[in-house]
Amino acid sequence: MDSNKITRDYFDSLLLETRYMEAAVPSIMMELYGERFSSPIMTAALSHLKTLYQMEEEPMVSYARCAARTNSVHWIGMMEEEEVDQVIATGARTIRIVKPFADEDKIIRQLRHAEEKGALAVGMDIDHIFDKYGNPDVVMGEQMEPKSFKQMRAYVQATGLPFIVKGVLSVHDAVKCAEMGAKGIVVSHHGGRIKDAVPPLMALPEIRKELVKDMPVFVDCGICSGLDAYKAMALGATAVSVGRHLIPFLKEGTDRAAERIEEMGRELRGIMACTGVKDGNHFDTSVIHHGGRL
Ligand SMILES: Cc1cc2nc3c(=O)[nH]c(=O)nc-3n(C[C@H](O)[C@H](O)[C@H](O)COP(=O)(O)O)c2cc1C
Repeated sequence: MDSNKITRDYFDSLLLETRYMEAAVPSIMMELYGERFSSPIMTAALSHLKTLYQMEEEPMVSYARCAARTNSVHWIGMMEEEEVDQVIATGARTIRIVKPFADEDKIIRQLRHAEEKGALAVGMDIDHIFDKYGNPDVVMGEQMEPKSFKQMRAYVQATGLPFIVKGVLSVHDAVKCAEMGAKGIVVSHHGGRIKDAVPPLMALPEIRKELVKDMPVFVDCGICSGLDAYKAMALGATAVSVGRHLIPFLKEGTDRAAERIEEMGRELRGIMACTGVKDGNHFDTSVIHHGGRL
């Protein structure tokens, strides 16, 4: 079955109890890698937006300006260095995800470039290695390859920035990421790259349990409201990324997408208030009930 549908159904199957006694007006501010952000609602590592729609401004730049304007963490994916420069020049605090290219020099070059330009963190999407028949994938004409523990460790060591592994959907991978020195993981199935993928929120609690408390665990895939973000955070996410949900807003312009990010923050805050969560450090998994759609 389509993993996006399974993931949506799983979000909707999670129900919340309320906690009003001793409740307080919550703060959604987030601290990450030593910097402060307006909320844990982040953009997702998108790329090639100009192949989806055209606007006066380069769409990836408009996407970045939307994160800069809302003081949100901004993620970017596959692109050449000049595009990274344009993104970072917007002031967006950017996490640069590099592809698992077969070309090792290109990986190291892109990691170092992002660091030189002042990115917040770097990383790699390990779930974009294979095509659907198990062959090393070719993405936009570029050859990918599976990476060994030793290669991954070399990337961690090639940068002074936190290195994040994107595309973790098992305790197996999460533990290896921690062992090799990753400073964060993204629990994700990359928008459904395999069928019948476990929903990130279903895999999340077990993964969270296996990692030290200060290791950030991010989540993406299908997040389209503050309520979805709340559920992810209650189950152990540090912050969430929003990709496809923002695209229709981005098509209407930077301001509209920025408004939507801020609105999602307010939605999150509203649910935190009603469930007794005063800030990002006080989410409690026991608020969640696995009730199914009633
Ligand atoms: C147009 C588009 C381009 C993407 N490019 C990348 C990329 O270059 N690198 C990457 O790690 N993920 C990429 N992704 C995957 C997203 O980062 C994210 O994992 C996925 O879309 C699921 O989140 P969402 O449901 O919020 O969109 C891309 C997704 C889309 C829709």
